Amino acid sequence: MIPYKHFKFFVGFFLLMTQYSFAQNNPTPLKFQVPPLLVLNNGKSISTPKEWEQLRRPEIKQMLELEMYGKVPGVLKISSAKILEIDNQALNGMAIRKQVQLTFKGNGKELAVEILMYLPKGKKSFVTFLGYNFSGNQTINRDSSIHTAKAWNGLAKQPGVESANWPIESIIQSGCGVATMYYWDIAPDKNDFSTGVYPLLYKQNQLKPNDDQWGALAAWAWGLSRALDYLETDKNLDAKKVVVIGHSRLGKAALWAGALDQRFAGIISNNSGCGGAAISRGKEGETIGKMNANFPNWACGNFKKYSDHESNLPFDQHMLLAMMAPRPLYVASASEDQWADPKSEYMSAFYATDVYKFYGLKGLETNIFPKIEEPIFGQVSYHIRNGKHDILAYDWNNFIQFTRQFIK
Ligand code: GCU
Repeated sequence: MIPYKHFKFFVGFFLLMTQYSFAQNNPTPLKFQVPPLLVLNNGKSISTPKEWEQLRRPEIKQMLELEMYGKVPGVLKISSAKILEIDNQALNGMAIRKQVQLTFKGNGKELAVEILMYLPKGKKSFVTFLGYNFSGNQTINRDSSIHTAKAWNGLAKQPGVESANWPIESIIQSGCGVATMYYWDIAPDKNDFSTGVYPLLYKQNQLKPNDDQWGALAAWAWGLSRALDYLETDKNLDAKKVVVIGHSRLGKAALWAGALDQRFAGIISNNSGCGGAAISRGKEGETIGKMNANFPNWACGNFKKYSDHESNLPFDQHMLLAMMAPRPLYVASASEDQWADPKSEYMSAFYATDVYKFYGLKGLETNIFPKIEEPIFGQVSYHIRNGKHDILAYDWNNFIQFTRQFIK
């Protein structure tokens, strides 16, 4: 016989464990308050891809454009694309490296941007990831042939310092290509609109974009589309399989590019957080108010009125994600990135899945937050990596697997 005092302990322990395992098996479903995705601004519900494409999607595009990211104020095409260098034996013979300079002209000014590409050899049709880098093309690999970007911030960064964020060799080995540019070359990341692309499209005497005209996120998104214009002319790759990708602020830009430009075959957001994948209402970490205060150049002037007034937004970020439908979309978070807020990123992709369902496609099927490093693959995919705000090999490996499954 077990003595009573031990028995009490035993029963107590048993009860505790059953409660614990009940909680484990029944994690709390998440909920964020968001404006309805499938109801038109006039109150009517929609239920078909046609209604989505012809009625609701244009409404959402217009709201995001006028109230958040800002309109591109004119048309500016590539005025020349110059192949500066090409090497068919790059990375020890594994890849083709290409460096191409795009030039834009407007108002008597000129803007030059360099695209660096690594492409797999001997393949006809493959996925190319297109995304900006944070610190200059030379930082993505130790390859000494990469041209050093203009040092906007003083000293140029050392070659290869961001190679952990760009596992080029394994991307090439997996049969995919990469194309990248330095984001400052399109629009310097500072609250000053006198350089970069902006002045090329100013009207007479204009010194900064109007309140409904582009902020930096929209300017960077515009740059991604111009890069795609070039890639469409490049015979070394298949421009129908370009997947736009970005980390953090560059993930916000990649999402807006993917939303506006349906030529992108797929869209990947890594830790894009506030103003990117994450729902703004009820968000932890960075809020719209904080983002607008710390980075006033990112969104358009009109967006400032929503600082600390998220509930007045006529939209939320799940609508941005829904604009990708029916193309494959991947949202990735990191467990220690509360600033971006993984749960609000996940729920945004979960809500956006409703539009994918119109097309008979599977996305995120439950509002129960997934476990760390248990990716969910679908036309809308998601993972939460263990660790900090960053884009690392674990993320890329999943992105590669995702493109294998969903980019046909
Ligand atoms: C800051 C900013 C984020 C952004 C990040 C980044 O943390 O608040 O919104 O995503 O920078 O770009 O790394």
